[in-house]
Amino acid sequence: MEVRAARRRERDEVLDLLSLWYNDREFFALYNQNDRKFRDELCLVARDRGQLVATVQIFDRAINLAGHRTPMGGIGSVFTREDYRHKGVASDLMRLAIEAMEREGFEVSLLFAERLGFYNRFGWREVARKFTILTGAAGIRVDDDCEIDVFDAARDLSAIRAIHDAYTGRFNVAAIRDEEDWRGNLIFAANQPNRPGSNEYFILARKDDAPVAYLRVSRFHGVAMVMEYGYRPGAVDALLTLFRHLGETAAASPCSHRLRGDHRRGALLGEESGAAPAGVLITHTAHDKQFESRLAQAGCPVNYHQDNNYMWRVISPERLGRRLGLPPDRAAAAAFEMFRDDRSLFWTADRF
Ligand SMILES: CC(C)(COP(=O)(O)OP(=O)(O)OC[C@H]1O[C@@H](n2cnc3c(N)ncnc32)[C@H](O)[C@@H]1OP(=O)(O)O)[C@@H](O)C(=O)NCCC(=O)NCCS
Repeated sequence: MEVRAARRRERDEVLDLLSLWYNDREFFALYNQNDRKFRDELCLVARDRGQLVATVQIFDRAINLAGHRTPMGGIGSVFTREDYRHKGVASDLMRLAIEAMEREGFEVSLLFAERLGFYNRFGWREVARKFTILTGAAGIRVDDDCEIDVFDAARDLSAIRAIHDAYTGRFNVAAIRDEEDWRGNLIFAANQPNRPGSNEYFILARKDDAPVAYLRVSRFHGVAMVMEYGYRPGAVDALLTLFRHLGETAAASPCSHRLRGDHRRGALLGEESGAAPAGVLITHTAHDKQFESRLAQAGCPVNYHQDNNYMWRVISPERLGRRLGLPPDRAAAAAFEMFRDDRSLFWTADRF
């Protein structure tokens, strides 16, 4: 059995292998073909008797740790063909992934997992974090003079990037996106297996034509997920207005605010599903106490749901220590404090 990095000519074969997972080749292709940071060296494969039988992928990302841009390797697309399972193939690939991340200069690693024990063996540790459940968004009491519009990349990307950098950029752990990252992210953030055409509804609030707040929502496993949002200082009520609009759309109530643009994508919020009552929104708010208290005042208090699928590992305590100006062991502990902290943030839009 060969266990190694993939070669360029193996790209299609990797997708053929992954298509055995959800029977959805396109789901994986959207990442591999649109992530400008995809590199064959970061796509690890096992080949036996002429065929690819397992793969693990490292997603090249950067996160904010205490104001430092820190290279982060996201682990995903971990898959072994059924007839090769329980022979240690994925374990070999995980060990190789750690070596590759050390060699390529990644300092920390994130993965989303159900099989926690499997990843514990290779040093990833689960970190509890909170999702927020909003049940009363349609009833938010807010009176704001913004206009609700739809996002158009050609027109709005630079303004939205500026809001993202200033808002999300304040929080530890959040992924940092450059222009290239944004281009890919707009294509695959809402990507879901077996949901052809699954997409996002990306809206913004304008004042005097300039965007002051935005949010991105999609439907994951039958629930409306606000994958990311941001607002300018002083524009929290514009964000509340966007949330109320989502609540109304999801509950199929008439829209009480001025709209601009084509909002047909909002229909994805009204899709039938047994997963959650109509009108329920899931998102993250624990990092932003100002937003939470404004929601509560406006009649929409938050409830939390604890998520246990979020796992972190420090890849190079030495390099991380040099970056943070700490001895290696203290740097690793400081990173875990940030991963665990309620005030940290990792948007669903940045998952892989
Ligand atoms: C998860 C997955 C990638 C594991 O692949 P694998 O190649 O079977 O992994 P390994 O053989 O290294 O380890 C699997 C188990 O077999 C055990 N094992 C490893 N070598 C073994 C051997 N020689 N004999 C018996 N058992 C062995 C491992 O200890 C591990 O035990 P666990 O189930 O308690 O964790 C595979 O089950 C899969 O593709 N599942 C579908 C996709 C998926 O769920 N991906 C992960 C998303 S988080």
